[in-house]
Amino acid sequence: MDEFIFWLALLLLAAPLASAQKVEEFNYDEAKVGTYTLPDPLTSKDGKAVKTKSAWTSRRAELMELFAANVYGHTPKQPIKLRFQTTAVNESALNGLAVRKMVSIFFVDYPQIPSIDVALYLPKNKKLVPIFLGLNFSGNHSATTETDVPITTRWVYNAIGDVSVNNKATEKSRGMQVSSWQIETVLKRGYGLATVYYGDIEPDHPQGWQGHIRSVLDSPSETVPSASNNWGAIGAWAWGLSRIMDYLQTEPDIDPKRVVLIGHSRLGKAALWAGAQDDRFAAVISNESGEGGAALSRRWYGETVERINTSFPHWFNAQFKTYNKRVADLPIDQHELLALIAPRPLYVASAEEDRWSDPKGEFLGAAHTEPVYKLFGKTGLGTDTFPAVNQPIGQTVRYHIRTGKHDVTAYDWEQYLKFADELVGK
Ligand code: GCU
Repeated sequence: MDEFIFWLALLLLAAPLASAQKVEEFNYDEAKVGTYTLPDPLTSKDGKAVKTKSAWTSRRAELMELFAANVYGHTPKQPIKLRFQTTAVNESALNGLAVRKMVSIFFVDYPQIPSIDVALYLPKNKKLVPIFLGLNFSGNHSATTETDVPITTRWVYNAIGDVSVNNKATEKSRGMQVSSWQIETVLKRGYGLATVYYGDIEPDHPQGWQGHIRSVLDSPSETVPSASNNWGAIGAWAWGLSRIMDYLQTEPDIDPKRVVLIGHSRLGKAALWAGAQDDRFAAVISNESGEGGAALSRRWYGETVERINTSFPHWFNAQFKTYNKRVADLPIDQHELLALIAPRPLYVASAEEDRWSDPKGEFLGAAHTEPVYKLFGKTGLGTDTFPAVNQPIGQTVRYHIRTGKHDVTAYDWEQYLKFADELVGK
Protein backbone atom coordinates (compact mmCIF):
# COMPACT_ATOMS: atom_id res chain seq x y z
CA MET A 1 0.00 0.00 0.00
CA ASP A 2 0.95 3.48 -0.58
CA GLU A 3 2.12 5.03 2.70
CA PHE A 4 -0.12 7.96 1.89
CA ILE A 5 -3.26 5.86 2.21
CA PHE A 6 -2.07 4.59 5.58
CA TRP A 7 -1.48 8.08 6.91
CA LEU A 8 -4.71 9.34 5.44
CA ALA A 9 -6.51 6.63 7.36
CA LEU A 10 -4.78 7.72 10.57
CA LEU A 11 -5.71 11.29 9.88
CA LEU A 12 -9.35 10.36 9.38
CA LEU A 13 -9.24 8.40 12.61
CA ALA A 14 -7.80 11.34 14.50
CA ALA A 15 -10.05 13.98 12.94
CA PRO A 16 -13.31 13.33 14.82
CA LEU A 17 -11.43 13.28 18.12
CA ALA A 18 -9.78 16.55 17.30
CA SER A 19 -12.93 18.27 16.09
CA ALA A 20 -14.76 17.26 19.26
CA GLN A 21 -12.72 19.96 20.97
CA LYS A 22 -12.06 23.39 19.65
CA VAL A 23 -8.95 22.95 17.60
CA GLU A 24 -6.40 25.69 17.76
CA GLU A 25 -4.85 27.02 14.62
CA PHE A 26 -1.56 25.42 13.66
CA ASN A 27 1.39 27.62 13.01
CA TYR A 28 3.74 27.15 10.06
CA ASP A 29 5.22 30.60 10.12
CA GLU A 30 8.68 30.84 11.68
CA ALA A 31 8.07 34.52 12.40
CA LYS A 32 5.16 33.60 14.67
CA VAL A 33 6.93 30.97 16.75
CA GLY A 34 7.47 33.51 19.51
CA THR A 35 9.93 33.45 22.36
CA TYR A 36 10.35 30.81 25.02
CA THR A 37 12.80 29.87 27.73
CA LEU A 38 14.10 26.33 27.78
CA PRO A 39 14.93 24.56 31.01
CA ASP A 40 18.68 23.97 31.37
CA PRO A 41 19.63 20.28 31.43
CA LEU A 42 22.66 21.20 33.55
CA THR A 43 20.79 23.05 36.30
CA SER A 44 19.20 20.77 38.87
CA LYS A 45 15.80 21.38 40.46
CA ASP A 46 17.39 23.03 43.46
CA GLY A 47 19.16 25.50 41.18
CA LYS A 48 22.65 23.96 41.38
CA ALA A 49 24.87 23.92 38.30
CA VAL A 50 25.83 20.42 37.15
CA LYS A 51 29.52 20.46 36.34
CA THR A 52 30.73 16.90 36.68
CA LYS A 53 29.77 13.49 35.37
CA SER A 54 28.86 12.37 38.86
CA ALA A 55 26.59 15.40 39.39
CA TRP A 56 25.00 14.52 36.03
CA THR A 57 24.15 11.05 37.38
CA SER A 58 21.82 12.64 39.97
CA ARG A 59 20.51 15.24 37.54
CA ARG A 60 19.85 12.49 35.02
CA ALA A 61 17.77 10.56 37.59
CA GLU A 62 15.88 13.76 38.34
CA LEU A 63 15.12 14.34 34.63
CA MET A 64 14.07 10.73 34.18
CA GLU A 65 11.56 11.14 37.00
CA LEU A 66 10.31 14.44 35.55
CA PHE A 67 9.66 12.81 32.16
CA ALA A 68 7.91 9.87 33.83
CA ALA A 69 5.78 12.08 36.08
CA ASN A 70 4.87 14.70 33.48
CA VAL A 71 4.96 13.12 30.04
CA TYR A 72 5.17 9.36 29.51
CA GLY A 73 4.14 7.91 32.89
CA HIS A 74 6.21 5.64 35.11
CA THR A 75 7.36 2.42 33.54
CA PRO A 76 6.81 -0.48 35.94
CA LYS A 77 10.14 -1.78 37.10
CA GLN A 78 9.09 -5.20 38.29
CA PRO A 79 10.96 -8.06 36.65
CA ILE A 80 8.89 -10.15 34.30
CA LYS A 81 9.53 -13.75 33.35
CA LEU A 82 9.92 -14.19 29.62
CA ARG A 83 10.02 -17.26 27.44
CA PHE A 84 11.52 -17.10 23.96
CA GLN A 85 10.25 -19.53 21.38
CA THR A 86 11.65 -19.85 17.88
CA THR A 87 8.69 -20.51 15.61
CA ALA A 88 10.46 -20.63 12.21
CA VAL A 89 13.93 -20.43 10.71
CA ASN A 90 14.75 -19.77 7.09
CA GLU A 91 18.46 -20.42 6.49
CA SER A 92 18.30 -18.84 3.08
CA ALA A 93 16.12 -15.78 3.41
CA LEU A 94 16.33 -12.82 1.02
CA ASN A 95 17.71 -15.01 -1.76
CA GLY A 96 20.41 -16.48 0.42
CA LEU A 97 21.59 -13.22 1.94
CA ALA A 98 20.30 -13.86 5.45
CA VAL A 99 19.14 -16.26 8.09
CA ARG A 100 15.69 -15.24 9.22
CA LYS A 101 14.35 -16.36 12.58
CA MET A 102 10.83 -15.75 13.83
CA VAL A 103 10.85 -15.67 17.61
CA SER A 104 7.89 -15.17 19.95
CA ILE A 105 8.36 -13.58 23.37
CA PHE A 106 5.84 -14.96 25.88
CA PHE A 107 5.04 -13.63 29.38
CA VAL A 108 5.23 -16.67 31.62
CA ASP A 109 3.09 -15.29 34.48
CA TYR A 110 0.57 -13.63 32.16
CA PRO A 111 -0.41 -16.20 29.55
CA GLN A 112 -3.39 -14.03 28.57
CA ILE A 113 -1.08 -11.30 27.22
CA PRO A 114 -0.28 -11.83 23.52
CA SER A 115 3.28 -12.63 22.52
CA ILE A 116 5.66 -10.13 20.93
CA ASP A 117 6.69 -11.66 17.60
CA VAL A 118 10.17 -10.76 16.38
CA ALA A 119 11.36 -11.06 12.79
CA LEU A 120 15.13 -11.29 13.03
CA TYR A 121 17.41 -11.12 9.99
CA LEU A 122 21.10 -11.95 10.43
CA PRO A 123 23.79 -11.80 7.75
CA LYS A 124 24.88 -15.34 6.86
CA ASN A 125 28.07 -16.79 8.31
CA LYS A 126 28.88 -13.79 10.48
CA LYS A 127 29.47 -13.82 14.21
CA LEU A 128 28.64 -11.19 16.81
CA VAL A 129 26.99 -8.78 14.40
CA PRO A 130 25.74 -5.29 15.22
CA ILE A 131 22.02 -4.95 14.69
CA PHE A 132 19.28 -2.39 14.13
CA LEU A 133 16.06 -2.82 16.09
CA GLY A 134 12.85 -1.00 15.23
CA LEU A 135 9.11 -1.37 15.69
CA ASN A 136 7.03 -1.34 12.51
CA PHE A 137 3.58 0.14 11.84
CA SER A 138 1.80 -2.56 9.88
CA GLY A 139 3.10 -6.03 10.71
CA ASN A 140 6.40 -7.80 10.09
CA HIS A 141 5.06 -8.95 6.73
CA SER A 142 4.86 -5.31 5.62
CA ALA A 143 8.65 -4.91 5.85
CA THR A 144 9.34 -7.69 3.32
CA THR A 145 7.86 -9.24 0.19
CA GLU A 146 8.92 -12.76 1.31
CA THR A 147 5.81 -14.90 1.32
CA ASP A 148 6.86 -17.10 4.25
CA VAL A 149 6.60 -14.24 6.73
CA PRO A 150 3.10 -14.63 8.15
CA ILE A 151 0.59 -11.79 7.88
CA THR A 152 -0.05 -10.42 11.36
CA THR A 153 -3.32 -11.58 12.88
CA ARG A 154 -3.35 -8.74 15.42
CA TRP A 155 -5.46 -5.58 15.39
CA VAL A 156 -4.34 -3.07 12.75
CA TYR A 157 -5.71 0.32 11.70
CA ASN A 158 -8.40 0.18 9.06
CA ALA A 159 -6.72 1.74 6.08
CA ILE A 160 -8.41 2.98 2.95
CA GLY A 161 -8.26 0.29 0.28
CA ASP A 162 -8.16 -3.42 1.00
CA VAL A 163 -4.81 -3.69 2.77
CA SER A 164 -6.81 -4.17 5.97
CA VAL A 165 -10.43 -5.10 6.51
CA ASN A 166 -12.23 -5.01 9.87
CA ASN A 167 -8.96 -4.18 11.62
CA LYS A 168 -7.21 -7.25 10.16
CA ALA A 169 -4.30 -7.02 7.75
CA THR A 170 -4.79 -8.65 4.36
CA GLU A 171 -2.32 -10.21 1.93
CA LYS A 172 -2.36 -6.87 0.08
CA SER A 173 -0.32 -5.31 2.85
CA ARG A 174 2.63 -7.65 2.34
CA GLY A 175 5.73 -5.65 1.50
CA MET A 176 4.00 -2.29 1.63
CA GLN A 177 6.76 -0.81 3.81
CA VAL A 178 9.74 -2.42 2.12
CA SER A 179 11.24 0.92 1.19
CA SER A 180 11.15 2.08 4.81
CA TRP A 181 13.15 -0.93 5.99
CA GLN A 182 15.79 -1.47 3.28
CA ILE A 183 16.55 -4.88 4.76
CA GLU A 184 18.82 -6.08 1.92
CA THR A 185 20.96 -2.94 2.08
CA VAL A 186 21.28 -3.20 5.87
CA LEU A 187 22.25 -6.89 5.66
CA LYS A 188 24.75 -6.30 2.85
CA ARG A 189 26.44 -3.71 5.04
CA GLY A 190 27.03 -6.36 7.70
CA TYR A 191 24.25 -5.53 10.14
CA GLY A 192 21.37 -7.61 11.37
CA LEU A 193 17.85 -6.23 11.59
CA ALA A 194 15.09 -7.06 14.04
CA THR A 195 11.58 -5.73 13.66
CA VAL A 196 8.31 -6.18 15.56
CA TYR A 197 4.78 -4.97 14.88
CA TYR A 198 4.09 -2.30 17.53
CA GLY A 199 0.51 -3.53 17.93
CA ASP A 200 1.86 -6.79 19.40
CA ILE A 201 2.84 -4.75 22.46
CA GLU A 202 -0.25 -2.57 22.46
CA PRO A 203 -2.76 -1.82 19.70
CA ASP A 204 -2.74 1.90 18.92
CA HIS A 205 -6.15 3.09 20.09
CA PRO A 206 -7.51 4.36 23.41
CA GLN A 207 -8.75 0.93 24.54
CA GLY A 208 -5.63 -0.84 23.28
CA TRP A 209 -4.26 -1.30 26.82
CA GLN A 210 -7.03 -3.80 27.60
CA GLY A 211 -5.72 -7.33 27.41
CA HIS A 212 -2.17 -6.02 26.95
CA ILE A 213 0.74 -5.28 29.23
CA ARG A 214 -0.66 -2.11 30.77
CA SER A 215 -3.59 -4.12 32.11
CA VAL A 216 -1.35 -6.31 34.27
CA LEU A 217 1.69 -4.29 35.35
CA ASP A 218 1.40 -1.64 38.00
CA SER A 219 2.60 1.89 37.79
CA PRO A 220 4.05 3.10 41.11
CA SER A 221 3.75 6.52 42.73
CA GLU A 222 1.34 8.05 40.25
CA THR A 223 -0.81 10.84 41.59
CA VAL A 224 -3.33 11.04 38.76
CA PRO A 225 -5.30 7.82 38.51
CA SER A 226 -6.63 6.56 35.22
CA ALA A 227 -8.42 3.43 34.19
CA SER A 228 -5.59 2.28 32.02
CA ASN A 229 -2.85 2.76 34.59
CA ASN A 230 -0.83 5.83 34.28
CA TRP A 231 1.83 4.99 31.79
CA GLY A 232 0.72 5.60 28.25
CA ALA A 233 1.00 3.59 25.06
CA ILE A 234 4.36 5.20 24.22
CA GLY A 235 5.59 3.96 27.60
CA ALA A 236 4.30 0.48 26.77
CA TRP A 237 5.98 0.43 23.34
CA ALA A 238 9.23 1.58 24.97
CA TRP A 239 8.89 -1.14 27.61
CA GLY A 240 8.35 -3.67 24.81
CA LEU A 241 11.57 -2.56 23.11
CA SER A 242 13.46 -3.40 26.30
CA ARG A 243 11.84 -6.84 26.38
CA ILE A 244 12.96 -7.40 22.79
CA MET A 245 16.44 -6.35 23.92
CA ASP A 246 16.19 -9.00 26.68
CA TYR A 247 15.68 -11.53 23.92
CA LEU A 248 18.37 -10.15 21.57
CA GLN A 249 20.91 -10.50 24.38
CA THR A 250 20.38 -14.25 24.31
CA GLU A 251 21.15 -14.62 20.59
CA PRO A 252 24.77 -15.82 20.28
CA ASP A 253 25.29 -14.28 16.83
CA ILE A 254 24.30 -10.77 17.94
CA ASP A 255 26.68 -8.38 19.68
CA PRO A 256 24.49 -7.12 22.55
CA LYS A 257 26.72 -4.06 22.92
CA ARG A 258 25.93 -2.90 19.40
CA VAL A 259 22.15 -2.76 19.22
CA VAL A 260 21.03 0.44 17.47
CA LEU A 261 17.47 1.49 18.15
CA ILE A 262 15.54 3.16 15.33
CA GLY A 263 12.03 4.57 15.28
CA HIS A 264 9.90 6.65 12.94
CA SER A 265 7.33 9.19 14.02
CA ARG A 266 5.26 7.91 17.00
CA LEU A 267 7.65 4.97 17.09
CA GLY A 268 10.53 7.46 17.13
CA LYS A 269 9.00 8.93 20.29
CA ALA A 270 8.90 5.40 21.75
CA ALA A 271 12.51 4.72 20.66
CA LEU A 272 13.76 7.88 22.38
CA TRP A 273 11.95 7.07 25.62
CA ALA A 274 13.23 3.47 25.46
CA GLY A 275 16.78 4.65 24.73
CA ALA A 276 16.63 7.11 27.62
CA GLN A 277 15.51 4.44 30.08
CA ASP A 278 17.60 1.53 28.88
CA ASP A 279 21.28 2.14 28.27
CA ARG A 280 21.79 -1.30 26.77
CA PHE A 281 20.83 0.42 23.49
CA ALA A 282 24.16 1.52 22.03
CA ALA A 283 22.73 4.33 19.91
CA VAL A 284 19.32 5.80 19.10
CA ILE A 285 17.88 7.10 15.83
CA SER A 286 14.83 9.34 15.83
CA ASN A 287 13.33 9.61 12.35
CA GLU A 288 10.84 12.50 12.26
CA SER A 289 9.60 11.86 15.80
CA GLY A 290 8.16 15.37 16.14
CA GLU A 291 5.98 16.45 19.06
CA GLY A 292 6.58 14.38 22.19
CA GLY A 293 9.76 13.11 20.47
CA ALA A 294 12.74 15.19 19.38
CA ALA A 295 10.89 18.48 18.72
CA LEU A 296 10.86 21.17 21.39
CA SER A 297 7.38 21.40 22.95
CA ARG A 298 7.70 25.10 23.65
CA ARG A 299 8.05 26.03 19.97
CA TRP A 300 4.68 26.93 18.52
CA TYR A 301 5.08 25.29 15.11
CA GLY A 302 3.25 22.30 13.60
CA GLU A 303 1.76 19.84 16.06
CA THR A 304 1.22 21.08 19.61
CA VAL A 305 1.02 19.42 23.02
CA GLU A 306 -2.71 20.16 23.08
CA ARG A 307 -3.32 18.63 19.69
CA ILE A 308 -1.33 15.44 20.33
CA ASN A 309 -3.08 14.90 23.67
CA THR A 310 -6.46 15.42 21.98
CA SER A 311 -5.89 13.21 18.94
CA PHE A 312 -4.01 10.50 20.79
CA PRO A 313 -5.22 10.58 24.41
CA HIS A 314 -3.72 7.15 25.13
CA TRP A 315 -0.11 7.97 24.21
CA PHE A 316 1.02 9.98 27.25
CA ASN A 317 0.07 10.12 30.92
CA ALA A 318 -2.78 12.12 32.41
CA GLN A 319 -0.45 14.76 33.84
CA PHE A 320 0.84 15.69 30.36
CA LYS A 321 -2.68 16.81 29.41
CA THR A 322 -2.62 19.42 32.16
CA TYR A 323 0.02 21.26 30.09
CA ASN A 324 -2.21 21.56 27.02
CA LYS A 325 -2.69 25.27 27.50
CA ARG A 326 0.48 26.02 29.47
CA VAL A 327 3.47 24.39 27.80
CA ALA A 328 5.75 27.01 29.33
CA ASP A 329 5.07 25.38 32.73
CA LEU A 330 6.48 22.00 31.69
CA PRO A 331 9.43 21.33 34.00
CA ILE A 332 11.30 19.74 31.08
CA ASP A 333 11.53 20.11 27.32
CA GLN A 334 12.41 17.51 24.71
CA HIS A 335 16.11 18.44 24.36
CA GLU A 336 16.42 16.98 27.86
CA LEU A 337 14.92 13.69 26.71
CA LEU A 338 17.56 13.61 23.95
CA ALA A 339 20.25 14.49 26.50
CA LEU A 340 19.32 11.36 28.47
CA ILE A 341 20.84 9.36 25.58
CA ALA A 342 24.28 10.97 26.22
CA PRO A 343 27.08 10.04 25.91
CA ARG A 344 25.77 7.45 23.44
CA PRO A 345 25.47 8.33 19.74
CA LEU A 346 22.18 9.93 18.75
CA TYR A 347 20.76 10.70 15.29
CA VAL A 348 17.83 13.07 14.81
CA ALA A 349 16.37 13.40 11.31
CA SER A 350 13.68 15.54 9.72
CA ALA A 351 12.06 15.95 6.31
CA GLU A 352 11.49 19.26 4.61
CA GLU A 353 7.82 18.66 3.82
CA ASP A 354 7.10 17.17 7.24
CA ARG A 355 6.31 20.51 8.81
CA TRP A 356 3.87 18.86 11.24
CA SER A 357 6.91 17.39 13.05
CA ASP A 358 8.62 20.82 13.21
CA PRO A 359 12.03 20.14 11.60
CA LYS A 360 13.64 23.20 13.18
CA GLY A 361 12.28 22.17 16.58
CA GLU A 362 13.83 18.71 16.09
CA PHE A 363 17.14 20.29 15.10
CA LEU A 364 17.09 22.57 18.16
CA GLY A 365 16.25 19.61 20.39
CA ALA A 366 19.43 17.94 19.14
CA ALA A 367 21.51 21.15 19.30
CA HIS A 368 20.57 21.81 22.93
CA THR A 369 22.03 18.49 24.08
CA GLU A 370 25.52 19.93 23.44
CA PRO A 371 26.44 20.87 27.05
CA VAL A 372 25.64 17.35 28.23
CA TYR A 373 27.79 15.67 25.55
CA LYS A 374 30.55 18.20 26.41
CA LEU A 375 30.45 17.01 30.01
CA PHE A 376 31.56 13.64 28.65
CA GLY A 377 34.30 15.22 26.56
CA LYS A 378 32.32 14.67 23.37
CA THR A 379 31.15 16.95 20.64
CA GLY A 380 27.44 16.52 19.99
CA LEU A 381 26.17 18.36 16.94
CA GLY A 382 28.96 20.91 17.27
CA THR A 383 26.91 23.67 15.65
CA ASP A 384 23.87 25.86 16.19
CA THR A 385 23.40 26.48 12.49
CA PHE A 386 20.41 24.80 10.86
CA PRO A 387 21.82 22.95 7.84
CA ALA A 388 20.68 23.04 4.24
CA VAL A 389 18.62 20.07 3.00
CA ASN A 390 20.48 16.81 2.39
CA GLN A 391 23.56 18.01 4.29
CA PRO A 392 24.03 15.73 7.32
CA ILE A 393 25.91 17.39 10.18
CA GLY A 394 27.30 16.59 13.62
CA GLN A 395 29.58 14.20 15.43
CA THR A 396 28.28 12.10 18.34
CA VAL A 397 24.89 13.73 17.75
CA ARG A 398 23.93 13.93 14.09
CA TYR A 399 21.15 15.62 12.21
CA HIS A 400 19.82 15.94 8.71
CA ILE A 401 16.80 17.40 7.02
CA ARG A 402 16.20 15.72 3.69
CA THR A 403 13.95 16.74 0.87
CA GLY A 404 10.58 15.02 0.74
CA LYS A 405 7.77 13.96 3.01
CA HIS A 406 7.16 12.19 6.31
CA ASP A 407 8.69 8.75 5.74
CA VAL A 408 11.83 6.64 6.17
CA THR A 409 13.71 6.47 2.89
CA ALA A 410 16.82 4.92 1.35
CA TYR A 411 18.53 8.28 1.84
CA ASP A 412 17.78 8.18 5.58
CA TRP A 413 19.10 4.61 5.87
CA GLU A 414 22.28 5.55 4.02
CA GLN A 415 23.01 8.20 6.68
CA TYR A 416 22.12 5.82 9.54
CA LEU A 417 24.43 3.11 8.21
CA LYS A 418 27.30 5.60 7.91
CA PHE A 419 26.56 6.83 11.45
CA ALA A 420 26.53 3.25 12.77
CA ASP A 421 29.74 2.37 10.86
CA GLU A 422 31.53 5.35 12.39
CA LEU A 423 30.15 5.39 15.91
CA VAL A 424 28.93 1.89 16.75
CA GLY A 425 31.32 -0.14 14.63
CA LYS A 426 30.71 -2.61 11.83
C1 GCU B 1 0.37 11.83 13.67
C2 GCU B 1 0.77 12.44 15.01
C3 GCU B 1 2.28 12.56 15.16
C4 GCU B 1 2.93 11.23 14.86
C5 GCU B 1 2.49 10.73 13.51
C6 GCU B 1 3.04 9.36 13.12
O1 GCU B 1 0.65 12.73 12.64
O2 GCU B 1 0.14 13.69 15.11
O3 GCU B 1 2.63 12.99 16.46
O4 GCU B 1 4.33 11.33 14.95
O5 GCU B 1 1.08 10.63 13.47
O6 GCU B 1 3.23 8.52 13.96
O7 GCU B 1 3.23 9.18 11.92
